[in-house]
Amino acid sequence: MIRKCLFPVAGYGTRFLPATKSMPKEMLPIVNKPLVHYGVDEAVEANLNYIGFVTGRGKRAIADYFDISYELEDQIAGTGKETLLQGIRYLINNVKFSFTRQNNMLGLGHAILSGETLIGQEAFAVVLADDLCLHPEGKGILAQMVTLYQRYHCSIIAVQEVDNTEIERYGVIAGIPLHDDLYKVTDMIEKPSPENAPSHLAIIGRYILTPDIFEIIKHTQPGKNGEVQLTDALRSQAQNACVMAYKFKGIRFDCGSIDGFIDATNYCYRHFYQQGEQC
Ligand code: UTP
Repeated sequence: MIRKCLFPVAGYGTRFLPATKSMPKEMLPIVNKPLVHYGVDEAVEANLNYIGFVTGRGKRAIADYFDISYELEDQIAGTGKETLLQGIRYLINNVKFSFTRQNNMLGLGHAILSGETLIGQEAFAVVLADDLCLHPEGKGILAQMVTLYQRYHCSIIAVQEVDNTEIERYGVIAGIPLHDDLYKVTDMIEKPSPENAPSHLAIIGRYILTPDIFEIIKHTQPGKNGEVQLTDALRSQAQNACVMAYKFKGIRFDCGSIDGFIDATNYCYRHFYQQGEQC
């Protein structure tokens, strides 16, 4: 059973400068809800009610967001605006939030290792909040992955088919197809050229990891820019234990890029906000 979800949110978000100079990129709103709120909603839908954040300097707004704001509540009490806080109130009342810090930005692998103190020795999910994943017709992406974990009990990474023009931006898997959009991972290459890419299946920001990943990360040498890459640790786990890749059902926006962020905003505005639904 998986109960916990880790959000590494310590990155600088340099692609959104100057907006991210003094605010976390995870707090940028898609219509009227911060990116990170969408990620937590997805985790809670999958029954992951223990949310851990790996934060860094300048990220206090995230902790404040998932806490009660007495002055504001008082100010809008009894007005129509109270409904706008229903979603966040539900999370504050039903979810346990905890926080730890990554003191040096030494990569995603290092950020996840920094979260070990919040996770302990159990399997857990990871959400990169700048990937906004939606599946309006059915179960969310994390819920789909949790169901798979219950069957296979090994690490699972979400993948998406991308074309040659985009492949260099992603970690890409080589895998043996099992069934129903599921692959057993045999290798992974970080940011390959189109000629060297082993497939078109790119890793996106949703993972379920078994807790042995922490020991593997501790023994993973830093790669490019001195960063400890999660992909390197996962490759080792795939070769010595088991990692599955899952082509999820739903849509995903790369909100870490300006283009993806604008696409997500337009989509949510048209499909939810204009229809009178909460985003
Ligand atoms: P990104 O590669 O998108 O980096 O990290 P970034 O710094 O957030 O954004 P840019 O490229 O400068 O615009 C992917 C995820 O990993 C987290 C980030 O917060 C983001 O959610 N991360 C990355 C960490 O928490 N710590 C790190 O050392 C690196």
